[in-house]
Amino acid sequence: MSSSPRPPTGPLLQVDGLCRRFEGPQGRAVLADLDLSLAAGEYVAIMGPSGSGKSTLLNVLGGLLRPDAGVVRLEGTDLATLPDAALTRLRRRRIGFVFQAFHLLPHLSAAHNIALPLQLDGVPRPQALQRAAQLLEQVGLGGRRDALPGELSGGEVQRVAVARALAHRPALVLADEPTGNLDHGIGLRVLALLREQLGEAGGSGLLVTHSLEAARTADRILMLRDGRLWPWDGEGG
Ligand SMILES: Nc1ncnc2c1ncn2[C@@H]1O[C@H](COP(=O)(O)OP(=O)(O)OP(=O)(O)O)[C@@H](O)[C@H]1O
Ligand SMILES: [Mg+2]
Repeated sequence: MSSSPRPPTGPLLQVDGLCRRFEGPQGRAVLADLDLSLAAGEYVAIMGPSGSGKSTLLNVLGGLLRPDAGVVRLEGTDLATLPDAALTRLRRRRIGFVFQAFHLLPHLSAAHNIALPLQLDGVPRPQALQRAAQLLEQVGLGGRRDALPGELSGGEVQRVAVARALAHRPALVLADEPTGNLDHGIGLRVLALLREQLGEAGGSGLLVTHSLEAARTADRILMLRDGRLWPWDGEGG
């Protein structure tokens, strides 16, 4: 499935001098000379105050938003060198997004929501649905294949979103507050699941969260502050 084989050495994700500003009356630099290096298989949590730029960062890393300056390399490929179509392809094949708002399609069943991105990438429908069924089983929703998102609880929707992000066995999963609206126990279960599935596929993950307890499930914790990432100093959340 790899569109750009990873060089034998070097990090999975290498970010140097990233800058991104938003124009407008309150326009300001949200990301300012930000660096980040993520090893293959590594799972890192990012915390930081509301408005500090966490979602902006994930959008830039996932190629949904172009930076003003700086370099993002995924598996050695500089995202800025890719035309839009190639960037879309790379995102579809190598990256899995769990969005802050889950973006499940309301008129598609849980299984079809998971299968759709695979089908868009050319996987035949029966195989895509088979993979969806397997993932739903793994996230404990084997019996809810045909349910529409509106018929699922918040935690179940979240699990479907996690399954969808993992369907194509991405090299990198970007998860933006995947447990934001969940009660505590279910939230931690969703995170354990994400981690377990990532581990099985050998993928790396970036988890944005406001919860220190959630962040502690990661290999290391970084804080986004003043446009840059800092090692978490053990203080507060
Ligand atoms: N499209 C946009 N146009 C203008 N400003 C934006 C845009 N997107 C984000 N911003 C601003 O950039 C800053 C960072 O936003 P971002 O969504 O990345 O924060 P966040 O850390 O994810 O916050 P939260 O924890 O609340 O989700 C905010 O001040 C926001 O208002
Ligand atoms: Mg956000």
